[in-house]
Amino acid sequence: MGTTILADGLEKKRKIEEEWSSIYLSLTRPDFPPHFTFGVATSAFQVEGAWNEDGKGSSIWDSFAHVPGNICDGSNADVAVDKYHRYKEDIELIAKLGFKAYRFSISWSRIFPDGFGTEINLEGIRHYNNFINALIENDIQPYVTLYHWDLPLNLLNSMGGWLNEQIVKYFAIYAETCFSNFGDRVKNWITINEPLQTAVNGYCTGVYAPGKCGNSSSEMYLVAHHQLLAHAEAVSIYKNKYKDKQGGEIGLVVDCEWSEALSDSIEDRNAATRRLDFQLGWYLDPIYYGDYPETMREKLGDSLPHFSERDKELLNNSIDFVGLNHYTTRFVRHAKTDLEDNDFYRVQEADRIAEWEGGEMIGEKAASSWLYIVPWGLRKVLNYICTRYNNPPVYVTENGMDDEDDSTSPFHERLDNKLRVSYYKGYLAAVHQAIKDGCDVRGYFAWSLMDNFEWHLGYTKRFGLIYVDYRNGLTRHLKSSAYWFLRFLKDEQGKNGKLD
Ligand code: NOJ
Repeated sequence: MGTTILADGLEKKRKIEEEWSSIYLSLTRPDFPPHFTFGVATSAFQVEGAWNEDGKGSSIWDSFAHVPGNICDGSNADVAVDKYHRYKEDIELIAKLGFKAYRFSISWSRIFPDGFGTEINLEGIRHYNNFINALIENDIQPYVTLYHWDLPLNLLNSMGGWLNEQIVKYFAIYAETCFSNFGDRVKNWITINEPLQTAVNGYCTGVYAPGKCGNSSSEMYLVAHHQLLAHAEAVSIYKNKYKDKQGGEIGLVVDCEWSEALSDSIEDRNAATRRLDFQLGWYLDPIYYGDYPETMREKLGDSLPHFSERDKELLNNSIDFVGLNHYTTRFVRHAKTDLEDNDFYRVQEADRIAEWEGGEMIGEKAASSWLYIVPWGLRKVLNYICTRYNNPPVYVTENGMDDEDDSTSPFHERLDNKLRVSYYKGYLAAVHQAIKDGCDVRGYFAWSLMDNFEWHLGYTKRFGLIYVDYRNGLTRHLKSSAYWFLRFLKDEQGKNGKLD
């Protein structure tokens, strides 16, 4: 029996590798559609700094990062990489690399310091106006995320944040304020970034703000539910009052690692699909099919909230595009658990495995413990979205890998990040192949423009195309991966040929 499983596993490895080797090609810019968007991404809290300047209120991440023990290197994002003051320099770098789009987020508490939407901070509006104007002057399209995890602290303290349904109303006011102030120039909106992370890491594992853990697993499902309702409300306002006039699009960003069934057994295949339901389906099924996935309802019963008819109506097709944040892949094996067990991971009855049968790792490991480099997984997840949701427009809104912060190696070695270059070549080949498979992929954003504050991991991990010298005045230095993109993006005729 054991030998049969191993033989099946090795056969799977052979098939996947064979399939992949035939499409692993060196691409040029013209291999992608002419209007395909190439961009870079960041989020406000991770890069802006200026945490208490120009009238900004505190966010839950400001307060979380100030508590000793929450951030592994004892750091915070009070200054971060100081984008708030250095944005002109940063925009010049984006333009120099040849990216035509920049995905960034607005800090809610810069616009409404107490979150309530009664007192607007005009300095915040001025800042983002200047910033958006500077992007457009440099021929860079803004892709704006309204919520990338930095909830105004007052909304948590005074009413329970995402646990309270009232938040939908406050989010809607904030969103509308952004549409009306910036929507004449912003044509691509994202309501919420990775709602799963806010729910699971904010309310179950507790490693993200607000750091709640183990209280009741149903809290996490309520937090997810309210994010969906907030998304739907904001989209409805946009569609009813702004979209026609401003001519923009609006979407939601979900995160999903690919789940590959470890074997072809029905149990493993179901477990892999169930795992995808607990990531993607949790957010996209209510939008495309009007309710949470059956598998979730079956396992969670009434811990999973219910949608009213009005909620369903608002959610129905409430996105112009799916934003996908994708980094890595795991094998999934069925794992029987006691069904009384409501733990988010155990209830899925799906073990995540990072090794092929036989013990070889699924891919090379990046710095973060969860990140293995598996480019073929991106092709599979794009095809899965295409099949399950009837081929919606998709933007890969984040994709990238990290290096360990290492202050001992020679500086030039830190910049010569060959592994990141091969990561991007592989994952772009996967996107290209997905387009050939028929998936409607419209754009791709590298995470990240530059090294930045990696949440609970502080500055220990570096995801940037651009190196930030934290020990020397936050100076910016292009890594090899930035030069690689520069040559790739400027090669409009494909004359550079193969890029090494
Ligand atoms: C997804 C998140 O949106 C982003 O903020 C984070 O830095 C990257 N993943 C890398 O972990």
